[in-house]
Amino acid sequence: MQLRYKSQKANIEEQGFNVLKKLIYKELGLNCTYYRDSYLRRRVDYRMRSKGISSYWEYNKYLKDHPEEYKLLIKDLTINYTKFFRDSDVWIYFKIRILPALLAAKKTIRIWSAGCASGEEPYSIAMIIDDVLGQRIRNYLVSIYATDIDETCLKKAKEGEYESSEVSEISNHFLRKYFIQEGNKYRIKENIKRMVHFRYGDLTKDLGYRNMDVIFCRNVFIYFSKEAQAKICIRFHSALNQNGYLIIGKTEVLPDQVRGKFKCINNNCRVFQKV
Ligand SMILES: C[S@@+](CC[C@H](N)C(=O)[O-])C[C@H]1O[C@@H](n2cnc3c(N)ncnc32)[C@H](O)[C@@H]1O
Repeated sequence: MQLRYKSQKANIEEQGFNVLKKLIYKELGLNCTYYRDSYLRRRVDYRMRSKGISSYWEYNKYLKDHPEEYKLLIKDLTINYTKFFRDSDVWIYFKIRILPALLAAKKTIRIWSAGCASGEEPYSIAMIIDDVLGQRIRNYLVSIYATDIDETCLKKAKEGEYESSEVSEISNHFLRKYFIQEGNKYRIKENIKRMVHFRYGDLTKDLGYRNMDVIFCRNVFIYFSKEAQAKICIRFHSALNQNGYLIIGKTEVLPDQVRGKFKCINNNCRVFQKV
């Protein structure tokens, strides 16, 4: 009898969780079917605990009565840890292998940083390209597209202003060349800013990008189910030029469904090339 009661209760809670996913989609436009359930539950449970709420139904009501909670929920759903030149070996590979091949082959370079968080990744790309090209940058048209769903992060990215703790691992050469120090803050210089175009973009939807030479989508797959990862990779495949590069996070794997569409050219750095 007690067992039946328990499973009924779990069922009701499950329904509450499904209603919550629909609410998130309706209010935030975030398609939760793409996200791993275990991941969503962990993040939502964390928000509920912080409000002293123990049931999804109660939390749904709380959200309706306190719409400002949506902002905190999306912030917790999107963990946006990032840093400049994260995983240095990936940047070395980009600089000495990928970039020279691209620069030798074409004058228009298009790069997409998908899940760019607060801008450290796309600005790292821009700094490396500018540093490698020097004066020759005038002969090239370099565009870096940077998308994310976290509006707070995007705002910071567009401002391009970072605390000293956030730039502490950048080499002195790059810090002096590409930042203006204002007290405790470091502001990205305009020539680097101009290369990067930030935009709100939800990877669960087709964002319409095409003719990309490189896509960085690092440390973003962690949120998504295997099926969602495969759908996103198929879109990346369409967005890339022939022989274009896809770079994913160092602890991530390419879904089985798309293995034939990409060849791995550096397993340690998780670099793939469109075939
Ligand atoms: C851990 S950060 C990674 C930042 C950067 N790529 C790096 O590797 O340092 C993951 C980013 O993915 C974003 N994200 C999560 N779900 C997304 C979605 N559906 N569409 C676009 N970006 C998403 C988060 O907002 C967060 O800023």
